[in-house]
Amino acid sequence: MSESVHHATLAEPLTLRRGPAWPNRLALAPLTNKQSQRDGALSDDEQRWLVRRAEGGFGVVMTAAAYVSVEGKAWEGQLGVHDDAMLPGLTQLATAIRAAGAVSSVQLHHGGRRADAHVSGQPLVAPWNDAKYAARALTVPEIEHVVDAFIGGAVRAQEAGFDGAEIHGAHGYLIAQFLDTRMNHRTDRYGGSLENRYRMMREIVSGIREATSPDFQVGLRLSPERYGIHLEDAQAIVGWALECGDLDYVDISLWDAFKAPHGDDSGDRLLIDEFTSIPRGETRLTVAGKITGAADATWCLDRGADAVFVGTGAILAHDFARQAIADEAYRHPEQPVTREHLREQAVGEAFVDYLATGWSDFVI
Ligand SMILES: Cc1cc2nc3c(=O)[nH]c(=O)nc-3n(C[C@H](O)[C@H](O)[C@H](O)COP(=O)(O)O)c2cc1C
Repeated sequence: MSESVHHATLAEPLTLRRGPAWPNRLALAPLTNKQSQRDGALSDDEQRWLVRRAEGGFGVVMTAAAYVSVEGKAWEGQLGVHDDAMLPGLTQLATAIRAAGAVSSVQLHHGGRRADAHVSGQPLVAPWNDAKYAARALTVPEIEHVVDAFIGGAVRAQEAGFDGAEIHGAHGYLIAQFLDTRMNHRTDRYGGSLENRYRMMREIVSGIREATSPDFQVGLRLSPERYGIHLEDAQAIVGWALECGDLDYVDISLWDAFKAPHGDDSGDRLLIDEFTSIPRGETRLTVAGKITGAADATWCLDRGADAVFVGTGAILAHDFARQAIADEAYRHPEQPVTREHLREQAVGEAFVDYLATGWSDFVI
C-alpha cells in the first residue's frame, strides 16, 4: 500500500513535488470534444466547456488531447499545441482557468498510426510499417523530431500560462504504440526490449523537464493493459515514472477503477491495487474510470490514490466536483441525457454531436 496511512477527503488540497497545489482531489479528465477550429486554435465553445468545469469546482482542468505535431492530428476539431500561432487562444484559456481557481494543464498527444491523414493532410507514421493503417515506420531522426515536438508543446503550454502539461502515453496512441509488445519489433534502440520500447517516453519526460521551469507541473498518463501492454510491463514503467524524479504525478487510465486485472477472474485482485502498491516517494498517483459520484471518488482515495480524474461525470454535470465535495451521497445524472441537458452544462453543439455518434449511452 502507499507509504502513508492517511486517507484524504475529496476537499483536501494535494501538494505536488513542483508547481501549485491542487485545490482538491477531483480533476477534470482529458476529454476530446472536437470543438477546436480547423487550424487547431481554441474556439469559444471549447473555452466555455473548460472554464465552466473550473467554475464547477474541479481542482485541475485538463484540456483534451492536443496534437504536438501536424502528422499526429487525429480528429477534426482537435486542439493544437503544435505551433506558436495557437498561443493567443491557449493564453486566453489558461488565464480564464486560473481566474476560476483551478490548476490548468494541456494534454500532449500524437496519434501515430491512429492519426487521421485526411484531417492532417500528412502521411501516417508509426513505430513500425503498418499495413492495416497504411502507416510508415518512423526513422530515428524522425523519432527525435517527435520527441522535440512533445517538448515544444510543453514549452508552448508554459508560455501560454498553463501550470503544467500531461504526456498522453495511454490508449494506443503513438507513445503507447512504442510500448506495444506485440507490434514494436524495431531492431534499433526504440524497439524490442521493454527498455527500448519506453525509451521515447523517457526522452520526452526528461526533455520536457529540462526545457520547462522548475515549477512547471508534468504528469504522465498510462494504460495499464490492452493495447499490447502487459500488466508487468505497465508496473515496471509506472515504477520508473514514479521514481524518476522528473514527473509530478502519474495517472493510470483504468477505464473502470473497480475492475480486476484483465483475465483474472479470481476476484482476489483489483487492477488499481497493482499500482497504488508501487512505492511513489514524492510523486503522486492518480486514477480514472467510472467514478460516478462522491463515494466512488472517496473509495479510490481510500484505496491509495492521491486524486481522481473524472470524465463522464464532468460532461453530465459541470459542477460534479463541487457537488461531490458538498454531499457524500452525490452521483452524476443518469445516462443517457437530452441534448438540452448537455447544452445547459456548456457542452457545445460539436461536442454533443460527437457524444451522440462516437460514444454510446450519452445522448437520448
Ligand atoms: C468523450 C470522451 C473523450 C475522451 N478524450 C480523451 C482524451 O482526449 N485523452 C485521454 O487521455 N482520454 C480521453 N478520454 C478518456 C477519459 O479521460 C477517461 O479516462 C475515461 O472516460 C474514463 O473516465 P470516466 O468513466 O469518468 O469517463 C475520453 C473519454 C470520453 C468519454
